[in-house]
Amino acid sequence: MTLWSGRFSGKLDEAAWQLNASLPFDQRLAAQDVRGSLAWAGALLKAGVLNEAEHAAIVNGLNQIAGEFAQNTFTFHESDEDIHTAVERRLGELIGAAAGKLHTGRSRNDQVATDFRLWMLEAIETLQSAITNLQSVLLHLSAAHTETLMPGYTHLQRAQPITLAHWLLSHFWPLERDKDRLSDLRDRVAMLPLGCGALAGTAFAIDREALTMALGFDAPAPNSLDAVSDRDFAAEFLFCATLIGVHLSKLSEQMVLFTTAEFGFFELSDAYATGSSLMPQKKNPDLFELARGKAGTLIGLLTGLLATLKGLPSTYDKDLQEDKVPVFQAFDTLTLILPVLAGALQTMTIHADRMRAAIDAAMLATDLADYLVRKGVPFREAHAAAGKSVRVAAEKGVSLEKLPLNEMQALGSFESDVYQVFEPLESVKRRNATGGTSPDSVRKQLKTAKAIIGQMQNAE
Ligand code: ARG
Repeated sequence: MTLWSGRFSGKLDEAAWQLNASLPFDQRLAAQDVRGSLAWAGALLKAGVLNEAEHAAIVNGLNQIAGEFAQNTFTFHESDEDIHTAVERRLGELIGAAAGKLHTGRSRNDQVATDFRLWMLEAIETLQSAITNLQSVLLHLSAAHTETLMPGYTHLQRAQPITLAHWLLSHFWPLERDKDRLSDLRDRVAMLPLGCGALAGTAFAIDREALTMALGFDAPAPNSLDAVSDRDFAAEFLFCATLIGVHLSKLSEQMVLFTTAEFGFFELSDAYATGSSLMPQKKNPDLFELARGKAGTLIGLLTGLLATLKGLPSTYDKDLQEDKVPVFQAFDTLTLILPVLAGALQTMTIHADRMRAAIDAAMLATDLADYLVRKGVPFREAHAAAGKSVRVAAEKGVSLEKLPLNEMQALGSFESDVYQVFEPLESVKRRNATGGTSPDSVRKQLKTAKAIIGQMQNAE
């Protein structure tokens, strides 16, 4: 039996039933649906719609249903159109006629929006702590590598020496902003739709402020029409998830690159690498490639939902049922990827010698220009002199630091102390302003990052 069969004398076509039903995916909201109903029963008692006995029977029945869901003993029926129908049907089996009073003044429109938001409030926290775990790994590695040198790149060309800790932390901060975005979103998710009815509000004396408290929301949604049709929160969640995916894809791309034989900066542990069915020597970074690839899928989920929402007439339209699958899929994708990336980073071998060997003297050309600047030469002129030095060295086929002093002096006001410029660790140490790659700056950065994570973990 559907919840709406009264008006109909015929039965829904079988294929149409399949299209209409949302149970296959919204059964994931079972616990939230029961919680919402428990709160609603309380509101109906207060409103005088239920008497004490009816209320007690409904609460007992719902608690039993919650137990069945928790123990996986709840049996769905083919006639359960969605999770809301399934719960109400089961309540009727357990307590009889009083079950029929629970839906007074409520619609599945405000009910589903409430369930979904309840789910998302938890999902946000789960996602944030999975991100924090990955960040902790980055911090842990950074602490051990504040003086480990590696090439820094722009345009994927060797640019300037940096420290490994600085590079690792460059992946910490985007993730921190992702968590902030999720926290901002939380405030908008915590607006309660329940008590808005199908669209126009409820005709019973429902205390929506009390409902808000009971369900842990911040405030009742202020407009019933908006409350049942707003899916901004789902789109925003997908955007947050997508940007996390994009950040992880950037990290992953570099992991793929840096684990190649050509770079050889890192080597994956066996637990986080895969082999080839044909080529026995292969150790592939599939997991990072999947993380990179899934960012594309996440982008699709976001644009898909936005396209669904575009041009929808107010208020509830069944199109809105399409909100759940992409959101669940995005959540599942990230909660799968994040711990894998954390594990892979935690267990990889770092080849500091390979990273150091990839730094050549030409990467210190900026320092060569800075050397002249410190002697009073205007930067533009110094840049040109350093550039010429690089060109002459390349033409002669020697490394920049092997260019003889007399040849350098023909290009600019270099003195014999110029060769000190070519020590990469010194170059890195000079970048000592806040946010720079010097070991001291990075240690300060690390301290700030650790404090942020510490606060977050204490709050949990
Ligand atoms: N399964 C529906 C959804 O996810 C529940 C709301 C149904 N409302 C309705 N008016 N048919 O959106």
